[in-house]
Amino acid sequence: MTPQLLDILRQLSHEDFRSGEEVARRLRISRASVHNAVHEAESLGLRVQAVRGRGYRLALPVTWLDVEAFAPPFSGCGVVAQRADTLDSTNAHLMLQAQSGAAHKSLVAAEWQGKGRGRRGRIWLAGLGGGLMFSLLWRFNRPASELSGLSLVVGLGLAQVLRDLGLQRASVKWPNDILVDGAKLAGVLIELAGDMLGPSVAVIGVGVNVLGAESLRGALEQPVTDLSEHLPGSALDRNVLLREMVLRLNDSLERFDRDGFSPFRQDWEAFHAHQNQPVHLLTGLGERISGNAVGVDDGGALLLATESGVQRFHSGEVSLRSAAGCAVAPALHDEGAP
Ligand code: BTN
Repeated sequence: MTPQLLDILRQLSHEDFRSGEEVARRLRISRASVHNAVHEAESLGLRVQAVRGRGYRLALPVTWLDVEAFAPPFSGCGVVAQRADTLDSTNAHLMLQAQSGAAHKSLVAAEWQGKGRGRRGRIWLAGLGGGLMFSLLWRFNRPASELSGLSLVVGLGLAQVLRDLGLQRASVKWPNDILVDGAKLAGVLIELAGDMLGPSVAVIGVGVNVLGAESLRGALEQPVTDLSEHLPGSALDRNVLLREMVLRLNDSLERFDRDGFSPFRQDWEAFHAHQNQPVHLLTGLGERISGNAVGVDDGGALLLATESGVQRFHSGEVSLRSAAGCAVAPALHDEGAP
């Protein structure tokens, strides 16, 4: 991404056209730079409407990330926030920082990821301005072996925020995708560092589709959706979303570190997209196990009622597919460990 791209795009809005000449004058750059920036934005998935005689306008109502807008309430709970224009991956960035002693509750949000990581080694795609992407570093008092319910706690917290914002159909797919009517709205990637026995460090990465799912559909095999397909424009401010999600995660993670997953179990089941529904689990060896998803245990393992009784599965061992019409197929955004 060229360094001044975001400065140029911040001069444009969804509401009004602004001429290339005016943008160039305000930033003291050439009109050709503005023109090139528009092309670069398009190549990164941000549509800009260009109308001769009127200028440029953003095709979607993008709100750019602004630390001043999302971070002030974090000071009360110790979250140290950073915003980046572009990173390979917010998770990769924090994993590296974790090794050099980054503080508990370090947070980084980026406008663009060059190599966004999804689960199971897949990539995470988001058009410029269309996704909310952030990672939170959490130092747990529990060993990594006791974090099995963590990804469910995170997914639940995100879904709760979305319901509070008016998206009542937000639900969780085990272990932690966020779905709306079977289509993926958000994903979570948790990477662990440190000792399996001593205190552990988790980098919790969250990607939410806010705008522009339409343009992701061609690249993904699974149904995908974004917030703009379910909420009014006023609810699409990524700064507000980020603030609310981080505040919720802060509360949930403090509780999880203290009490484990069991206090979340009932709420998680109430948000479970496939609760008491037929599903298939696919093992790494290609085996398919069918049954009814009857809930989760106190460690976050999925409980599947099969012909041979209730079986318990841990995330990472299997991936889940709905068996009821609305298939949730594996794709770039997929589920996996931990
Ligand atoms: C999934 O595959 O569903 C998980 C996707 C997680 C994507 C987020 S975007 C912010 C953070 N940084 C990354 O590289 N990945 C996560």
